Amino acid sequence: MNADSGTNPKTGTLTIGNEHHSFPIHHGTSGPDVLDIGKLYGKAGIFTYDPGFTSTASCESKITYVDGDEGVLLYRGYPIEHLAERGDFLETSYLLLYGDLPTAAEKKDFDFRITRHTMIHEQMVRFYQGFRRDAHPMAVMVGCVGALSAFYHDSIDISDPHQRMVASMRMIAKMPTIAAMAYKYTSGQPFVYPKNDLGYSANFLRMCFAVPFEEYQVDPVLARAMDRIFILHADNEQGASSSTVRLAGSSGANPFACIAAGIACLWGPAHGGANEAALQMLSGIGTPERVPDFIRRAKDPDDSFRLMGFGHRVYKNYDPRARVMRDICHEVLADTGADDTLLQVAMELERVALHDEYFIEKKLYPNLDFYSGITLNAMGFPPSMFTAVFALARTAGWIAQWMEMISDPSQKIGRPRQLYTGSTRRDYVDIKRRG
Ligand code: SDX
Repeated sequence: MNADSGTNPKTGTLTIGNEHHSFPIHHGTSGPDVLDIGKLYGKAGIFTYDPGFTSTASCESKITYVDGDEGVLLYRGYPIEHLAERGDFLETSYLLLYGDLPTAAEKKDFDFRITRHTMIHEQMVRFYQGFRRDAHPMAVMVGCVGALSAFYHDSIDISDPHQRMVASMRMIAKMPTIAAMAYKYTSGQPFVYPKNDLGYSANFLRMCFAVPFEEYQVDPVLARAMDRIFILHADNEQGASSSTVRLAGSSGANPFACIAAGIACLWGPAHGGANEAALQMLSGIGTPERVPDFIRRAKDPDDSFRLMGFGHRVYKNYDPRARVMRDICHEVLADTGADDTLLQVAMELERVALHDEYFIEKKLYPNLDFYSGITLNAMGFPPSMFTAVFALARTAGWIAQWMEMISDPSQKIGRPRQLYTGSTRRDYVDIKRRG
């Protein structure tokens, strides 16, 4: 393929056999241009082939920009470091949804609208009882979020902008309640209802850790840490789970079902499940002295072991979120006085890996999940809740991505094709005549 002449070409040409096919090149405000090959099959009878989407842009978006080589993450143009240091999670949710930082009045109204939707339908409480007590919280989250569409029929008509916004408010507002109830149910403790005079993150901590027989005092250091952790997890462009939400939404499925699909995808250890896997890995290593053995295993092509919380499809530099998360980790450990052995193991692992040729050559750096598990563990969450916390925060990004997709008048159902390598046509053989 040649990008036609000039530094800012408008078209590119693909030569297939002795045929030349020209396609438009679209330029964004940042990041790589895209070759629009939508008409390739019609012109040349050939598909592109990119199973992991390593070189494929699935959509146009104005929400989040990631420069993996530079380790940059921008939400609507604002650096993640600025938002995590100076803003709060509901401000970030507003920014992702509406595209600009709210004024003081807009923020007050948004916070009020969110607090009005923090409760879930009382009948849903019985829905939880259907799970075994040892159910993974992510299994409960997938089930309960998908079930929301059975309780909120007045916000599932996606053709109605008002209903789309109500569903978005409900999703952001109810996720802390749903996640906290999943934790309480699996821990055998009574549910704690939201208390709307608390902030979003403080409310979540109280719903998780309050018990009936004593007043729960929210630790302001932990509430602030929780809020910043939510900001770091809110969005990251077209990751696997965001792409799942977009694909589910492209069929016209209701927003609750789309978010449930995103939660299911996030659960995988290669994606949002890596924070739980990373803590298990660090616990398995046990002491800084054992790090070299595991580095050796991670480099061994015959060993399936990988450093969980390391590497990323896009970040080929230090994940900017991991840097902030490491600072939050230090703050939380200092505040809680929790044992810092796992942090020492993580920091030794990072130190050794970042000086090792294998990791340098493959551009493998700590990602968001590397320090989050240690932090959440110190805050009192069991490892099974780590990805549920991730899903709670990512709901803001998923909803923004879904809203952008569903509001695009040119939107159509996503329907990829394939490279078929199965049997060619053959006639049916009666069972009496087989083998
Ligand atoms: C998240 O997309 C997103 O934005 C995701 C996320 C978000 O905010 O939504 O950022 C959240 O999911 C972060 C990633 C969490 N996952 C993990 O930490 C799991 C461990 N990491 C790997 O599984 C892996 O790095 C991935 C899945 C994250 C990325 O995999 P890629 O891009 O498909 O890269 P790859 O598997 O092709 O690896 C490239 C090379 C391979 O070596 P070769 O086959 O080329 O010889 O690097 C090696 C891999 O073997 N490699 C690792 C490694 N990750 C990649 N080797 C050791 N340890 C690792 N962690």
